[in-house]
Amino acid sequence: MTVSATSSTFDDLFSQWERQQAAYVAYRQNRFQVMLDVLALHCPPDPTVLDLACGPGPIADLVLRRFPGARAVAADHDPVLTRIARSVLARHEERATVVETDLVSADWASALPAWTFDAVLSSTALHWLSPGQLLAVYTELARLLPPGAVLLNADHLRFEDDRPTLRRLSADHDAAVQREAFTDGAVTWEQWWDLAARHPELAALLPERERRFADRPPQPPASLEFHLAALRTAGFTEVGTVWQYLDDYVVFARR
Ligand SMILES: C[S@@+](CC[C@H](N)C(=O)[O-])C[C@H]1O[C@@H](n2cnc3c(N)ncnc32)[C@H](O)[C@@H]1O
Repeated sequence: MTVSATSSTFDDLFSQWERQQAAYVAYRQNRFQVMLDVLALHCPPDPTVLDLACGPGPIADLVLRRFPGARAVAADHDPVLTRIARSVLARHEERATVVETDLVSADWASALPAWTFDAVLSSTALHWLSPGQLLAVYTELARLLPPGAVLLNADHLRFEDDRPTLRRLSADHDAAVQREAFTDGAVTWEQWWDLAARHPELAALLPERERRFADRPPQPPASLEFHLAALRTAGFTEVGTVWQYLDDYVVFARR
């Protein structure tokens, strides 16, 4: 795909983000569907939801569309993506709140409104954290959530070395999905950031984004077993999975 020299609107960037993310996550909408179904089956009809590491806010947007009485906090450390989230989620007026917070800092939850959450939803994000940071975030969420509240985390959780065939099948499938999506006109991660950089307001935020993420090395992929054990250690009472496609899971944990 050729990236145009003109600047996109925030809504265009959000649409392009969705196509870009769907190129890296096969059946991304199915992850979100199962999250919404669990909310409908388990939570009050007007749930209070935290979209953790929200990017430009697709999960919060889906929740607020599906549940007209819901309210959502969308939280992320990226000033560019939270700027887009603020614009996209403005259609939900006071039902949506966007906050900037760094999950790596010990007091990240202090940036949240003092609400009682029914659910925390996250997608393609917690793999940015080291195992120790992930355990700390899960522990803080267990402290924050009341009994019965749920956490749903969608991510690629790579198969360990003892399952090389499953690992290869998953990698080959990812590569095929990406090839097809990019041929159909989806932008890559890098091309999406080039598009964002052409927006004058976002361009001004890019140095701050670089500063905030300068000390964040890529993390080795954590396994499903690690996530389940970390959630139990953190204090969640019931943990498991509610969806899987190859190495892509939605992990469930109930407080
Ligand atoms: C691939 S994006 C996914 C965004 C969104 N959940 C989605 O599915 O479209 C990963 C997100 O994690 C956020 N993130 C990474 N590390 C973070 C941290 N330490 N604190 C808060 N957000 C973080 C990034 O800024 C980015 O928005």
